[in-house]
Amino acid sequence: MSERRVLVVDDEANMRRVLEIMLSRRGFRTEAAVDGRDALERMAEQPADLVITDLRMPEVNGIELLRQLRAAGNDVPVIVITAHGTLETAVEAMRLGACDYLLRPFDVEALDLAIQRVFASREVLRRNQYLRQEVDRRWTGLVGDGRHMREVQRLVAQVGPTSAAVLISGETGTGKEVVARALHDASPRRDQLFVAINCAALPRDMLESELFGHEKGAFTGALRQRVGKFELAQGGTVFLDEITEMPIDLQAKLLRVLQESEVQRLGGNQTLRIDARILSATNRSPRQAVQDGRLREDLYFRLNVFNIPLPTLRERPEDLPALVEHLMRQSLGPSAPLPEVPAEVMTALQRYRWPGNVRELRNVVERALILGGGRAVELRDLRLEQDAAPPAGPDMAGPEAAANPDLRLDPAVEALESRLITEALRRTGGNKARACALLRISERSLWYKIKKYGLGTPPD
Ligand SMILES: Nc1ncnc2c1ncn2[C@@H]1O[C@H](COP(=O)(O)OP(=O)(O)OP(=O)(O)O)[C@@H](O)[C@H]1O
Ligand SMILES: [Mg+2]
Repeated sequence: MSERRVLVVDDEANMRRVLEIMLSRRGFRTEAAVDGRDALERMAEQPADLVITDLRMPEVNGIELLRQLRAAGNDVPVIVITAHGTLETAVEAMRLGACDYLLRPFDVEALDLAIQRVFASREVLRRNQYLRQEVDRRWTGLVGDGRHMREVQRLVAQVGPTSAAVLISGETGTGKEVVARALHDASPRRDQLFVAINCAALPRDMLESELFGHEKGAFTGALRQRVGKFELAQGGTVFLDEITEMPIDLQAKLLRVLQESEVQRLGGNQTLRIDARILSATNRSPRQAVQDGRLREDLYFRLNVFNIPLPTLRERPEDLPALVEHLMRQSLGPSAPLPEVPAEVMTALQRYRWPGNVRELRNVVERALILGGGRAVELRDLRLEQDAAPPAGPDMAGPEAAANPDLRLDPAVEALESRLITEALRRTGGNKARACALLRISERSLWYKIKKYGLGTPPD
């Protein structure tokens, strides 16, 4: 730790000397001022880490010194020294922001203690401020204060505290789940459970019993009673992820449950009242999904009391610096130094199209941190080049067909499948449940195809 500077302010030369000796023995660099005015001048020249001042001094006294420091926005810790007769002034000094006082005559221990307290509490304060910022950020978890994210933040703050159903829409990796949690955390239900269920990840019947629960023996394999998500989230929030992937007949049942605020476990006859706030998400356009018959219109109206559409990452390049810093912090921990990100690297990140949005950015950042091993991030660490090609989409069948003049369907289809799966795994950082959701295939068939095409299976 660098040497700390202490400014001693006293009109008595003797007192100044004693204090200076005591302090320099303790490793502080000291300086002395003869009164408040002298102290202010010295502080202006070179700020101190601590001021120890007498209260009664000619010209500018201790109280006035304190007042002027604070008025100038200087929050240096100040310890005042006072005699019994002037204890009231000491109290006034504390009100003005002095952090401690010493009664004259004081002993060395009292001084030591006061100094220790000052620096310890400063340290705690700094750490608390950092933690509080961290907690705040995790609380919404929504990094970015460009125009788009500000609008999202505003909606979250406005709608979060209500019980309204909210449908969150946006491409994969744009932060739909982050927003769902932020809504829950902003609501009076925050101390109850937030229960998420991915409607794309389970076959119909399992999804049904996950949502509503079942009694023992309700169907083959129902060996035990199961509490449904709605029951579990009593008083809390249910988050229906990938809602447009829920089978249409199950959507009808869900609507009934929501309308009646009642649910029966499968195979049961007891009616349970439900009190859960409903949040849902989709990476399709909700209206389009209604038109395509993937989402029942009546359920859509029920779920979509509010819509929060999330911007893609390419729409908000202004947020990239903050996001990169946040993701590095998350990856390296609160106190590690962050590697530098040169302007050209940031520009490359801002130009890239980010088909996998923030999740893809997170993967790129983590990879760059590993490749860089602590030095400044370089362009090649990003590995964006091979990804800079337009994202995979159905239109890529074009070149495939052209390369197969014999028009054999199978190899072309397989090549396409394997490329789309690879792309989905890349965008989702290898998360198979999410990749399935993107590909709109079941987890089982994804496993099958991964094996069939010998695709690497990045860790979940
Ligand atoms: N605004 C943001 N600030 C900080 N981190 C974010 C933000 N948006 C997303 N993330 C991070 O990006 C990752 C993906 O976010 P999330 O899982 O919420 O996306 P999603 O929209 O639900 O994606 P999918 O449709 O694939 O399920 C998470 O690690 C999340 O913490
Ligand atoms: Mg999600």
